[in-house]
Amino acid sequence: MTTTGGMKAGGYYDHHSEYQQRVAATGAELIRDAVSRTPALPNGESFVIADYGCSTGKSSAASMRTAVDAVRAAERERAIAAIHNDVPTNDWNTLFANLAADPDGYAHAAGPPVVPLASAVSFFEAAAPAGSVHLGMSFSAAHWLRTQPDVSVPGFYFCEATGDARDVLAAQADADWARFFTMRAHDLASGARVVVQCVGTATPEPPAEPQVTARALLRAMAEVAATMADEGLLDPAAVDAYVLPVYARTTDEARRPLEVAGSDLAAAFAVETVRTDPVANPYLDAWRQDHDVGAYGKAYAAFVRGFTESSLREHLFTPGARGLPVDELLDDYFARLEARFAADPEADAFEDWTLTVVVARR
Ligand SMILES: C[S@@+](CC[C@H](N)C(=O)[O-])C[C@H]1O[C@@H](n2cnc3c(N)ncnc32)[C@H](O)[C@@H]1O
Repeated sequence: MTTTGGMKAGGYYDHHSEYQQRVAATGAELIRDAVSRTPALPNGESFVIADYGCSTGKSSAASMRTAVDAVRAAERERAIAAIHNDVPTNDWNTLFANLAADPDGYAHAAGPPVVPLASAVSFFEAAAPAGSVHLGMSFSAAHWLRTQPDVSVPGFYFCEATGDARDVLAAQADADWARFFTMRAHDLASGARVVVQCVGTATPEPPAEPQVTARALLRAMAEVAATMADEGLLDPAAVDAYVLPVYARTTDEARRPLEVAGSDLAAAFAVETVRTDPVANPYLDAWRQDHDVGAYGKAYAAFVRGFTESSLREHLFTPGARGLPVDELLDDYFARLEARFAADPEADAFEDWTLTVVVARR
């Protein structure tokens, strides 16, 4: 059982993931670089690309096209297989419909047809035949934890925890990161790279506070849920217990499990890149141009709904609903968030410090 059943289905996530598409676009150069440094394959062998946490395909299709074009720029006739990995409950029908319909997708790449494949398994498990993948990539996905945290946090997000609870969450994230890369060590061929981009935490010089991706958003989400609990719509205990199962790592946290001297992971991978970079907020950018607070509130709330609804439904609204149907409460919750965002666009704005990690399989 994974901590999210997938992003909001039926094309909703694809229509409301401009931020994730911006993040993935920043990885294009890394993809081209990784392909250019992959050892030459024997004639007749397929170049295998795997995208871990692909969702329903909008940004995945673009990243896959970048990778396919990079392979074909070097070898016009090279056979290619594209593995799309996500949880079993992902909306796979939408993914494959998108891949077929996208006029810019790899279905239209030069050279022989690329074979699309699904890997419907958690990326905390082996997700491809052993040693088969020549390029791994993962965008806005590897921050999801493997299991729902079982600690008390004053708010919805790991960074609000203190003391033992904070240590427990850091240890859980450390073990999950190690597990993710242990499984990629299984999947990847020798000399292959995996390019990972996910939410991160930047650490400016003290006394400046760490810059945690999405912190202001999660504070707003917790406050709106608390208001609904005060009004008797949600069980206060369920609101207190809820933690979004996402962890935004610092560069030190990202490096640590990969660089433990003498460990299997250090033997498996050479760490090439670990860094955080801010990625500008497309919704704020649009609002600064058009000053349309209504459109801003709608777009920001829909972006949040796309990636949080599955987790909120299972771990907060289903156990916490008091009287009203879960779907009605979710609609109410996101309408309240939308109104709050529109009332003061800067106050709860999503801020992003994307963590980029590139490792090479020895
Ligand atoms: C925010 S979406 C990112 C989708 C796409 N890569 C993009 O950049 O738009 C995160 C994806 O990670 C997937 N995911 C989360 N935990 C996972 C796991 N344990 N195994 C595989 N996929 C997972 C989710 O189901 C979701 O589709």
